[in-house]
Amino acid sequence: MAIERTLSIIKPNAVSARKIGAIIQRFEAAGFSIVACKMVKLTEEQAQGFYAEHKERDFFPRLMQFLLTAPVVALVLEKENAIESYREIMGATDPESAATGTIRADYGQNVTINAVHGSDSPESAAREIAYFFAESEVNSYE
Ligand code: TYD
Ligand code: MG
Repeated sequence: MAIERTLSIIKPNAVSARKIGAIIQRFEAAGFSIVACKMVKLTEEQAQGFYAEHKERDFFPRLMQFLLTAPVVALVLEKENAIESYREIMGATDPESAATGTIRADYGQNVTINAVHGSDSPESAAREIAYFFAESEVNSYE
């Protein structure tokens, strides 16, 4: 299987709860290499652009408000089959439906305040990585 990259975001509730380290620990324990990492206090414009595909949804204003409550940590993670593999450890969108032991089950509060983001396809991963990082800021290593 091919080495892939995925874009992860540790969302404001997890940052405010001081769970950055606990969540990053899970990424490395699951075999991901962190090849880029930065903390960002999103602007409203950045949050809207990142989630543009959802802008007509009823939850969009709630999602925007949440994303501005604290900084986020954006990371690029690398691994074989990274996109699908990350979505497994992340868990379902709604923490109440997320499998036991997943990040969202453990750190999510509800379907909006759900602790982490992960890309859902190679195309969205490419777009989302470029949204936060220049290619020169993403560093693979052995
Ligand atoms: P989505 O891309 O469907 O989920 P995922 O994050 O699992 O890929 O939705 C993006 C974000 O929008 C989701 O993480 C939280 C928010 N959201 C809500 O607030 N309410 C909802 O009913 C849904 C589906 C999403
Ligand atoms: Mg999604």
